[in-house]
Amino acid sequence: MELLTERKDLQAEAARDVVLSVRDVSVAFGETTVLDHLSLDVYRGEILGFVGASGSGKSVLLRTILGLVRKRSGTIRLLGQDLDKATDEQRMRIDMRQGVLFQHGALFSALTVLENIQVPMREYLDLPRSLMDELAYLKLELVGLPRDAAPKFPSELSGGMIKRAALARALALDPDIVFLDEPTSGLDPIGAAEFDELVGKLRDTMGLTVYMVTHDLDSLLTACDRIAVLGGKRVLVEGTVDDMLECDDPWVKAYFRGKRARQIDRSIRG
Ligand SMILES: Nc1ncnc2c1ncn2[C@@H]1O[C@H](COP(=O)(O)OP(=O)(O)OP(=O)(O)O)[C@@H](O)[C@H]1O
Ligand SMILES: [Mg+2]
Repeated sequence: MELLTERKDLQAEAARDVVLSVRDVSVAFGETTVLDHLSLDVYRGEILGFVGASGSGKSVLLRTILGLVRKRSGTIRLLGQDLDKATDEQRMRIDMRQGVLFQHGALFSALTVLENIQVPMREYLDLPRSLMDELAYLKLELVGLPRDAAPKFPSELSGGMIKRAALARALALDPDIVFLDEPTSGLDPIGAAEFDELVGKLRDTMGLTVYMVTHDLDSLLTACDRIAVLGGKRVLVEGTVDDMLECDDPWVKAYFRGKRARQIDRSIRG
């Protein structure tokens, strides 16, 4: 019976090309349950915006998917692999195909921008220095940073440049999927819009799948194909902006139809 269900799940995944499938995942710290039987799918080539109140567990879910937080129950399939059943080698292959931009400490402060971008290359690949330099410069260009940013340390960069450099590091190994935790927080609206545009461009040109945790309503409206809302320890609602506007949950209502609702009307309806 279980096998049959699993096979059906696999068929459904193949049909819609699910890159990440989270099923019934529960996470607790001591007595405190943060995620309770949460399920979520992310499809290939989409930009998924993941939103929810501060402290609701967005970063915890991300860290659980990355294997940094232990779940109490549930399954996570990433790039077709059940992570609990992966051998060390399979896990390493999956790790190589994903990139991450963490909410805090986006870069190593003691390393230059170029060295930061090369961290994943050093970890997973055995390349000569000259080739790593060449590749890192390409990533710099890809995220719109000038070459002279390469020898700088993070403390010498603006917030927007740090986010771009961190994105370049996340892209170091040409991943299938990138996880971005609040990539535009702390940026001014223009910098944030430019970052969103860059993410959209990378998705279009590289076929990248993007999982983006964000509080930024503009990002959700303009950059994301689909939105998932975390609340009550699970995904409350997922879908398009219109689905969000139709949702009766008080938090979703307040977020999407509160004071900033007029802004949504303008963005959607011109
Ligand atoms: N390692 C940990 N040990 C104990 N509790 C933790 C740990 N990590 C997170 N938590 C708790 O889990 C809850 C969810 O935290 P999380 O960082 O995922 O929130 P978030 O949704 O990302 O919030 P924000 O939008 O502010 O970033 C919080 O109550 C937090 O205190
Ligand atoms: Mg967080």
